[in-house]
Amino acid sequence: EPEQPLKGKKVLITAGPTKEKIDPVRYLTNHSSGKMGYALAEEAEKMGAEVVLISGPSTLPVPTGVKCISIETAENMYEQVLKYFPSADIVIKSAAVADYRPKQTSQQKIKKKDGNLILEFERTKDILMELGKRKEHQYLVGFAAETEKLEEHAYGKLERKNADMIIANDLTAKGAGFSADTNIVTIVQKNHRPKKLPLLSKNETAKRILEEIVKNRTEEDHK
Ligand code: PMT
Repeated sequence: EPEQPLKGKKVLITAGPTKEKIDPVRYLTNHSSGKMGYALAEEAEKMGAEVVLISGPSTLPVPTGVKCISIETAENMYEQVLKYFPSADIVIKSAAVADYRPKQTSQQKIKKKDGNLILEFERTKDILMELGKRKEHQYLVGFAAETEKLEEHAYGKLERKNADMIIANDLTAKGAGFSADTNIVTIVQKNHRPKKLPLLSKNETAKRILEEIVKNRTEEDHK
């Protein structure tokens, strides 16, 4: 195995949450810290890749040698991912992108009134689905954040989104998912049995994921 197996490869990684505005004071977000995506960026850079990291709001330092593009909303994330997608060799989408956003954003702070406040939410664009439709030479890796039926949902996403690999994590498992320094993932890909990794640091998890990608990409190229 060459020392830097990703030398000369362009790797596009998304990380962190998105922030969907309700009014100038309030927004909708999720618990993603960005750790999983930043670990993937750091490890890919160490393996020789040219890494572009598109990140939602995060307090993490940008790994050395990584180009980081900061975004806030799912729409911004969509625009930036589509901009960098054509020149990417490998795309890994670990970001927790909002599926819904408020249909209306109020320009003024919504004032309290008696009774309930009802907000209508609309769907955001499914970026992974969009990439699956546009995929040419890129190796496309999605994530699946589940709370049940992990493998079933992961294989379903693999097919529906035309991904080459899905990294599934059970958010209810202790030490897995949001904000933890560790993760427990199952790597799912076509014509392969699911590969269950034990609880590992997010950097170790990232290394295993990248090694698996290198292995399969090489297989693909030699087909
Ligand atoms: O950031 P950390 O605190 O380290 O937490 C890591 C993590 C739990 C966020 C990460 O391991 C993870 O599971 N990321 C995926 C979270 C997610 O949105 O999963 P999902 O099953 O809802 O989405 C499936 C895939 O579609 C993901 O690749 C996601 O990036 C993508 N997606 C989702 C919604 C959307 N509108 N567009 C997308 O591209």
